[in-house]
Amino acid sequence: MSVSLVPPASGRPALITGGAGFIGTNLADRLLRGGRPVRVYDNLSRPGAEHNLRWLRATHGSRVQFQQGDVQSITRLRETLGNVGTVFHLAAQVAVTTSLADPRDDFAVNAAGTLNLLELIRETGRRIALVFTSTNKVYGALDDVPLVAFATRYHPAADLRGIDEAHPLSFHSPYGCSKGTADQYVLDYARGYGVNATVFRMSCIYGPHQYGTEDQGWVAHFLIRAQQELPITIYGDGRQVRDLLYVDDLIEAFLLAENHLPEIAGQAFNIGGGPDNTISLCELVERISAMNGHAPEIVYGPWRVGDQRWYVSDPSKLERATGWRPKINVEGGIRHLHQWIALNRRTAPAARVVGS
Ligand SMILES: NC(=O)c1ccc[n+]([C@@H]2O[C@H](COP(=O)([O-])OP(=O)(O)OC[C@H]3O[C@@H](n4cnc5c(N)ncnc54)[C@H](O)[C@@H]3O)[C@@H](O)[C@H]2O)c1
Repeated sequence: MSVSLVPPASGRPALITGGAGFIGTNLADRLLRGGRPVRVYDNLSRPGAEHNLRWLRATHGSRVQFQQGDVQSITRLRETLGNVGTVFHLAAQVAVTTSLADPRDDFAVNAAGTLNLLELIRETGRRIALVFTSTNKVYGALDDVPLVAFATRYHPAADLRGIDEAHPLSFHSPYGCSKGTADQYVLDYARGYGVNATVFRMSCIYGPHQYGTEDQGWVAHFLIRAQQELPITIYGDGRQVRDLLYVDDLIEAFLLAENHLPEIAGQAFNIGGGPDNTISLCELVERISAMNGHAPEIVYGPWRVGDQRWYVSDPSKLERATGWRPKINVEGGIRHLHQWIALNRRTAPAARVVGS
């Protein structure tokens, strides 16, 4: 799916930490197609990352600069920061489940790794633009939002269309704490040191190059499992609701935000498909059944720590600041990802649990 190209912000390379991951690969591809130099910095720890990097190289050749490294390494990060104009900081320990298994590692990568990057940006003395990918998990389990349970989904009891940035922060789970810490550091470095940075608190992103697992990337995970005719485990009752955002729309938002820096520096934005693009887990299963002509096998497990029963972003602050609106609806996006998975099944890396 294509959306309009945003002109390059500068001739300097864009650095994408975590650039071989799902969102990073889509972003790198888009920037390279628009003629911008891109440097990918990734430790390739995520299953599927090496595959994505091979795809980027096959598609864009030597125009993809790659440096293998960890955000915990100050020396490697300093080298890679070199002459870059913008940093999209995506590298992270990405799952709540693995953060519970190893909270120290989660903190070291997400919180300390982000602080490493901020300090190095400060050290350069240059106005490097920074877009940081935070998460809706910074708002916690949203127990303060009374819900009504319908047959296939939860819904707020009051007239609430989405969660905006004024909602109180409440970090739940080590992942929520480490990403929330990084989120607050980025905002504070913008305030205190004038770093040209913005924070995206992202809901559920989905699209091509996503090798979703049971731990993270549930839309892709459900589609992959169903195509492989393997059972899908639903933790909780399946009525949890999320707003989905197709990755192309997210990238459009990244680029608009980059173009609107520094007016929006020091601000956080909730971003997702918003109230018009919501789905529950069991509603996704229904869609999959309709696409495949039969229902996948479902197994139920216990509720997971910090799992929000209902989370829908109110992305209107970003719309007011940049004019951004999502263009790809849930139905079209899911169909497109379903087709992409089917086309790429033979070459896709074997599914593995994140962190194992
Ligand atoms: N996908 C979503 O729905 C979603 C939602 C909210 C926030 N986010 C955030 O967006 C970012 C990108 O997510 P994604 O879905 O593309 O995840 P992903 O796992 O596909 O990509 C993350 C990349 O970071 C790399 N990485 C992990 N640890 C690293 C380290 N210590 N040093 C260097 N590289 C490392 C991995 O190898 C991987 O390529 C993450 O920060 C994530 O927390 C994603």
